[in-house]
Amino acid sequence: MTARTDDSMVRPGLRIAVFGAGYIGLVTGACLAELGHRVVVRDIDPEKVRLLRSGDVPIYEPGLGDMIARNKERLTFTLDVQETLNGAEVVYVCVDTPPSASGDADLSRVWSVVRSLEAASHLRAVVVKSTVPVGTGARVRAALDAAGLGHVGYAANPEFTAEGRAVEDFLHPDRVVIGADDDATAALISELHTGVDGPVVVMDVRSAEMAKLASNALLATKISFINEIATLCEKTGADVEDVARAVGMDHRLGHHFLRPGIGWGGSCFPKDSEALRQLASNTGYHLQMLSAVIEVNNLQKRRAIQRLKDELGTLAGARVALLGMTFKPGTDDMREAPSTVLAGRLLAEGAEVRCWDPMARPAEAEPWTWTTRHESPRSAVEGADAAILVTDWPQLKEVDWAQAASVMRRPVFFDGRNLLDPAVMRSLGFTYISVGRP
Ligand code: UGA
Repeated sequence: MTARTDDSMVRPGLRIAVFGAGYIGLVTGACLAELGHRVVVRDIDPEKVRLLRSGDVPIYEPGLGDMIARNKERLTFTLDVQETLNGAEVVYVCVDTPPSASGDADLSRVWSVVRSLEAASHLRAVVVKSTVPVGTGARVRAALDAAGLGHVGYAANPEFTAEGRAVEDFLHPDRVVIGADDDATAALISELHTGVDGPVVVMDVRSAEMAKLASNALLATKISFINEIATLCEKTGADVEDVARAVGMDHRLGHHFLRPGIGWGGSCFPKDSEALRQLASNTGYHLQMLSAVIEVNNLQKRRAIQRLKDELGTLAGARVALLGMTFKPGTDDMREAPSTVLAGRLLAEGAEVRCWDPMARPAEAEPWTWTTRHESPRSAVEGADAAILVTDWPQLKEVDWAQAASVMRRPVFFDGRNLLDPAVMRSLGFTYISVGRP
């Protein structure tokens, strides 16, 4: 997993300031330190900075804790902007860009970083890693010029790392995209990636910004497409798993992101697809395909509830167990998790909701405040009228389902990730429903 194994390969290293200690900032900071650079990561959250300074990592990301620990000589954390910028040659902007009330990305955190840069006397380049609308780079460029920082280069360096494998993705990427409008900045940011095992692709800033949004939109499209085909499989008696296998064997299409399920979630696909749609609307163009992709995904979560309702007659008074809460396994991230929509819908229908997840940290807010959390899948399904497998945690493959069926009030099981074997589950007495399988 490490990009560098031998100290003779350690390069002198640049001084880098990373703004934002979220998933992207922490992984970027730790990996750049691993590559030999001296990195200061700044966040506005005192508790986060305190944890990081004491050697704890506030998020779960495989390999990240070890990487931070072994690079502690080169990697520090602070709340202080001046300390962050002191001697910094490259500033990485990794702050979040949530949707604003208008639906456009809220860039206020990006602007607050840009406003602080006048104090950075050694600065050579500002790099935006946060996902931003196309055209943001040009606006930042103009702001830098207006602040007397015309000599400072600008680059867009979007991230393509997936949660749960972000460290691996950073060091061994399919590609590193660098958008820069001048050769010197492109060369500097390429140089910064020495040791990263993947091709560097240089383009103009706007194209790099668009490449990020287009990549996520196409990945989300593949999933929504196979989810629609799954619905059609249910109506025609075909098996979507076989269909996806055959389709994916065409090397032009590929197997990835053809797993049907309960819909995509997470901090990226929902936000980025909406941002791209909004960006198009702002230019007067309606992205028809992407709109359908988003709609299919919204429906997919609600279809799960409808199918349960069809089975149980009514959800009012039913006790339903949600198995898995995070938006995918291998992370503690609950952002835009389909489970939140399912829990909310079930409660609205009058069901009692109990849940299990090995890692989730749901917000102390509705709908979760109205649900009960259980220590094991077995305890969550005890006395339940139905269970929904929401997140394909590998632990769920190991559950003693025969025993689970025997303690449920009604053994109705909706496998929202096609994780389990239909024949086996039915032989254990479950009324087993899954996505697009007969
Ligand atoms: C995604 C992209 O995969 C990364 O390349 C990108 O850098 C990142 O967003 C980002 O923009 O920061 P991530 O959100 O971590 O990464 O998660 P994915 O592994 O892509 O999964 C997204 C959602 O799609 C999950 O809810 C997952 O369960 C679902 N999914 C994925 C499916 O339903 N079917 C599939 O075949 C694949």
